[in-house]
Amino acid sequence: MTGDTPRKGIVLAGGTGSRLFPITNGVSKQLMPIYDKPMVYYPISVLMLAGIREIAIITTPQDQDQFRRALGDGSQWGVSFTYIVQDRPEGLAQAYILAEAFLDGSPSCMVLGDNIFFGHGLPELLERACARETGGTVFGYRVADPERYGVVAMDAEGRVTQIIEKPEKPPSPFAVTGLYFLDGTAPARAAKVTPSARGELEITSLLEMYLADGALTVERMGRGYAWLDTGTHGSLLDAGNFVRTLQSRQGLQTGCLEEIAYEKGWIDRARLEELAEAMAKNDYGRYLKTLLRD
Ligand code: G1P
Repeated sequence: MTGDTPRKGIVLAGGTGSRLFPITNGVSKQLMPIYDKPMVYYPISVLMLAGIREIAIITTPQDQDQFRRALGDGSQWGVSFTYIVQDRPEGLAQAYILAEAFLDGSPSCMVLGDNIFFGHGLPELLERACARETGGTVFGYRVADPERYGVVAMDAEGRVTQIIEKPEKPPSPFAVTGLYFLDGTAPARAAKVTPSARGELEITSLLEMYLADGALTVERMGRGYAWLDTGTHGSLLDAGNFVRTLQSRQGLQTGCLEEIAYEKGWIDRARLEELAEAMAKNDYGRYLKTLLRD
């Protein structure tokens, strides 16, 4: 990371999770298990891999206590969590308005609490986006059903030509993933966004403002990456199976916050030992113990 103001992180974990009813009647979607850890670990791991240590977690009022119980203040992983409430789910761009004081002019990286990324080279991709101090960076990922997402179109040089939310006729197969690197102007711009037909402050409208200023970069997330969907009962299970298959084959964890914190030197050996001990009865704890040996 460069510059004087370190980039801050936002995890947007609001919403009713209605597509996953009845399982989300009592528990936040982003705390559902993806195999061996809560869903929100995966997006947090992305921020940590990007070197971000000051992170705001935005939740609904009723779910905040559960998140606090699940994640604490972050110090166990060498990071700091600030909890912010979103009273009503009024759109992704609203997160920047709610986080304005927390960001305090800093550039940010926002990740949606239900977005799971996996891929070789992810840290380098994140580093490149982090290094861009002005403007915004989004990631385009080829999907079979772009009409379900924000869609980005590019010219031959890879410059963004259009960004559009859930278009009936997608101008490209590239969905915009739920990972946004924006500069310090994001809250002020978000305040100018007007609600869409579905009554939300769309992230796409905010990104359009960056595009109009010639300040929006798109990075392709190639076919070597997995950007997993967790929006339906089936895709939730598929995501869990994906993580399980990968982890048991490689003997390596994905989304393991303790490991990232240790590798980054944010926690010491004694702390890792303590964290491992608390989970010594399962594979997660045993994995942490192997890190102490290696
Ligand atoms: C939101 C954004 C969309 C983006 C998607 C990524 O969609 O509006 O642009 O592609 O997240 O997960 P939503 O989940 O609100 O339908």
